Amino acid sequence: MAILEILTIPDPRLKTVAKEVAEVTDHTRKILDDLLETMLEEGGVGLAATQANIHERMFVMDVSTGKNEPIHFINPRIIETFGELEMEEGCLSIPGIYAKVTRPQKLTVHYLDYHGKPAEMTVEGYAAKCIHHEIDHLNGVVFLDHLSPLKRKMLEPKLKKLAKHKA
Ligand code: NI
Repeated sequence: MAILEILTIPDPRLKTVAKEVAEVTDHTRKILDDLLETMLEEGGVGLAATQANIHERMFVMDVSTGKNEPIHFINPRIIETFGELEMEEGCLSIPGIYAKVTRPQKLTVHYLDYHGKPAEMTVEGYAAKCIHHEIDHLNGVVFLDHLSPLKRKMLEPKLKKLAKHKA
């Protein structure tokens, strides 16, 4: 496994819409393994391939307290959502910035698992928020895109600092 470099805003590559994985192979699993190792190393709960400049539709997530229950999602597709929940979130691609974002309270997602087998799960609360956030990444969307213009403006000084730090 390897630690991958994580893109941070305002990197335009984060706006890339990822392509479907045509076939789940050892190459796919290698990417998932690397994503998981990178996510754990960085202390995240989810990491999408887009964030590692790999534009294929997959992400990893581990919302367990012991960080020992990773779930791998390939070609994830949300088929149903229920309710709304506003919760504070952060992102490894937007280090040090947190904001409240409204997402579905509960959702059902279809995906292919680590072995390429079709799977489905219904989750709520934090896990639902996380899955929704990661699928956003695969569509080139970051949580800042969900904020009102006013909220975004309030974060402007921090965002400028982040961009400067990177340059
Ligand atoms: Ni993120």
